[in-house]
Amino acid sequence: MNLTPPPPVNATTSALKTTTESELTRDEVLALRKEYVAPATFMYYKEPINLVRGHMQYLYDETGKQYLDALGGIVTISVGHCHPEVIAKTKAQIDKLQHATTIYLHPALPLLAKKLAEKMPSADLKVSFFTNSGSETNDLAMTMARLFTGNLDILTVRNGYHGASLATMSAVGHSTWRFPIPTTGNLHHIAPGYCYRCPFNLKYPDCNVQCARDAENVIRYSTSGKVAAVLAEPIQGVGGTVVPPPEYFKILYDIVKKYGGIYISDEVQTGFGRTGAHYWGIQNWGVTPDAITMAKGLGNGVPISAVTTRREIANAMTGKIWFNTFGGNPVSMAQGLATLEVIDKDGTQANSQKAGNYLKEKLLGLMDKHRLIGEVRGLGLMLGMELVKDRVTKEPATAETADVMERTKNHGLLIGKGGFFGNVLRIKPPMCINTGDADFIVDALDKVLNEIETGKV
Ligand SMILES: Cc1ncc(COP(=O)(O)O)c(C=O)c1O
Repeated sequence: MNLTPPPPVNATTSALKTTTESELTRDEVLALRKEYVAPATFMYYKEPINLVRGHMQYLYDETGKQYLDALGGIVTISVGHCHPEVIAKTKAQIDKLQHATTIYLHPALPLLAKKLAEKMPSADLKVSFFTNSGSETNDLAMTMARLFTGNLDILTVRNGYHGASLATMSAVGHSTWRFPIPTTGNLHHIAPGYCYRCPFNLKYPDCNVQCARDAENVIRYSTSGKVAAVLAEPIQGVGGTVVPPPEYFKILYDIVKKYGGIYISDEVQTGFGRTGAHYWGIQNWGVTPDAITMAKGLGNGVPISAVTTRREIANAMTGKIWFNTFGGNPVSMAQGLATLEVIDKDGTQANSQKAGNYLKEKLLGLMDKHRLIGEVRGLGLMLGMELVKDRVTKEPATAETADVMERTKNHGLLIGKGGFFGNVLRIKPPMCINTGDADFIVDALDKVLNEIETGKV
């Protein structure tokens, strides 16, 4: 299969239409967006880019300019934009049957559920619910945990992100993403395993992983003394690629079990081999969860999400009818299945590890040259670089981070940012990137960090 990028789009010189591929110019799209789309939907870049095409790890704007997508559509493009094998299977499904709902049988849904069961870290995690977004699946997982355990209180981690529905917004540990409205109760935030900015100002390993152990105090003092679950990301994504100390989740798991809860791993960003060594992020920490929630990379760009769990936990939902119109949609299911098949066939997880290790090594190498880099962290192709004004005070370099993003865009590289202070560069490309792409990322960052540090306008 030819996976080389298509030739750039040739822009025409028409005054009204400056593109051969887009019906509208960038400025027209921007004007429409400003007039008709709710302003809370924020955009990256002072001059937002108008994307018209994607192919594997590359995106193209209306002028034909190629960008290396090192954010992967916010960690959603797992095997590559418009991966030809995935798209062929999706198109075949659209031609046959485009909508059904779960009130009828259709083959794609149980086939994807079977595939997910085969990928689980334990044979007990066997049954799946399908929904359409990460928020929905986390919402559902929390409901299920409460029904199964009979307990109300749920622990989530400070600096974590789980979605924008009312319940998941309440679970989010980040004021940036929480509106001042009454949130749902019985959600309690525990300390993150964020060694670079330790919540207890301690040093690992002398700290005895106090961040995880403190969860017991939260249960004792802030809950009824019983919990339904903990919901946590194995590596915090939106929070700025926060990798906990290796014992963090095992300690947390034991505490949650002691107080009657189940362990829900939010793998919306970390699943499908992104962390390299393992298919699921939580496997890096030696914990077998009771439920895995997933979205984003499962569908390589279609709205899809799922929670896979043990049958007895899922049984807790049988007392009422649970229905989701588009959850299990044949097109999403076909694309999800095709994506997982490509991950197996293309050796995507192994590539994530190989390309990720290579890239991380090179990013670490940049630390010797650039004082702005406070820490490089992550696993596989889930990488982050925290920028600080001063390595001793660790004052966040928020404006500089935004500047890096603007400048790398001009060099044809799209990266993301995260962290409470918006000072962590997030590098999470489609998992098909090669070492040449990794070099391109490092060279672009080297150049722009140099420009910023030397005050070049
Ligand atoms: C870890 C995690 N969980 C849940 C969500 C929510 O997903 P969605 O935006 O599809 O609702 C996100 C989104 O970024 C996420 O990163």
